[in-house]
Amino acid sequence: MTPSIGPGLVLPDGFLMGASTSAHQVEGNNVSSDWWALENRQGSFVAERSGDAADSFHRWPQDMDLLSELGFNAYRFSIEWARVEPERGHVSRAAVEHYRAMVRGALERGLTPVVTLHHFTSPRWFSELGGWTSPESADLFATYAGTAAEILGEGVRYAATINEPNMIALMHTLLRHAARRADGDPGSTAGGDHGGAAAFGPGAIEPDAEVTRALIRAHRAASAVLKAADPALRIGWTIANQVYQAEPGAEETAAVYAWPREDVFLEAAREDDWIGVQAYTRHRIGPDGPLPVPQDADTTLTGWEIYPEALGEAVRHTARVVGPHVPILVTENGIATGDDDLRIAYTTSALASLASAMRDGVDVRGYLHWSALDNYEWGSYRPTFGLIAVDPHTFAREPKASARWLGSLARAGRIPCPPAAAPAGVSSAG
Ligand code: BGC
Repeated sequence: MTPSIGPGLVLPDGFLMGASTSAHQVEGNNVSSDWWALENRQGSFVAERSGDAADSFHRWPQDMDLLSELGFNAYRFSIEWARVEPERGHVSRAAVEHYRAMVRGALERGLTPVVTLHHFTSPRWFSELGGWTSPESADLFATYAGTAAEILGEGVRYAATINEPNMIALMHTLLRHAARRADGDPGSTAGGDHGGAAAFGPGAIEPDAEVTRALIRAHRAASAVLKAADPALRIGWTIANQVYQAEPGAEETAAVYAWPREDVFLEAAREDDWIGVQAYTRHRIGPDGPLPVPQDADTTLTGWEIYPEALGEAVRHTARVVGPHVPILVTENGIATGDDDLRIAYTTSALASLASAMRDGVDVRGYLHWSALDNYEWGSYRPTFGLIAVDPHTFAREPKASARWLGSLARAGRIPCPPAAAPAGVSSAG
């Protein structure tokens, strides 16, 4: 049974409603990437390998057919640097053609492609040079962006340079700690966001500052290259919004905590054409730092508190930090669950919180659900985020009820919205 959406908010013309994936999580056999190397290293901390993933490298036409038949008008996917440039300076023409065909394929099906250049994975050779800590990283990424421009030139309007740079920078710190622990340093701590218990204060697990600066440089260098190739292209990056909530008296602590983990990356987007918001849950901050998820809270398959209102709070926070002149695309929002009714209930509330922020004037231009498909969740196939189920042996796709429900909202151009008097100028349909 799908919930009634009440009066609903009529979406502005051109609003993008769709779903997201990333190359490594759905394509399969991304063998030239650093993540593939990590997964397949002996004694790796990565529990499960990506393997064939959802075989979308071959089955992308079917994925796009399904999304468009379901009623969506947008698809966010990423192009894989490790396929486009499997060795430094060697561009695979076949990979470029592959992704150009994907862009054309999306457009032919009425799906606006939102294309990410880097979604967590890098070519193995890039990591071996030191990855984002290499002094050459911004130049190397900008060179790749020059090649990617050829793909985007097929008709892409929205491109993202780097997905969740804040998580990449945090990951660097975690990997450094893991390496130190492996070397027998007992003082090395570990933790993380998205529900993990992060440390605060001296020695805190926080995004690596050098990597943060390198990512901002790389984002700007790539944006300049892409803009020079196509001045009409709208370029942004997508940030993991952690929805830090200060407990009474902890406002100052929360602001200090949020800066290196999120706000520095949002501020860096002030000159961009758009900003991607990715929100799943909240993180409560007390006077001494982050608080654990309450014992009695309902949680998802990733252990995150079920808190759909995170989405509305994330777009409001982003608009406050970046400024009202930068439009927002929600590039990820969803829930890891095997219970599809719960997915619908969560998304209903998330969309209602989004609608309420839009009604208050936040400029949101699209909503892309994470994820289009059940996919590889960075070390495990167990947390299922997909609107479409994928059989791991036959790769057969089966849209879930949530896919049909969300597709029908996309078709109707209307999302759930809590009843409230709409301020002048914003339409709320009855
Ligand atoms: C990432 C996705 C990931 C999702 C759920 C985001 O952090 O961009 O790759 O699968 O969240 O964890």
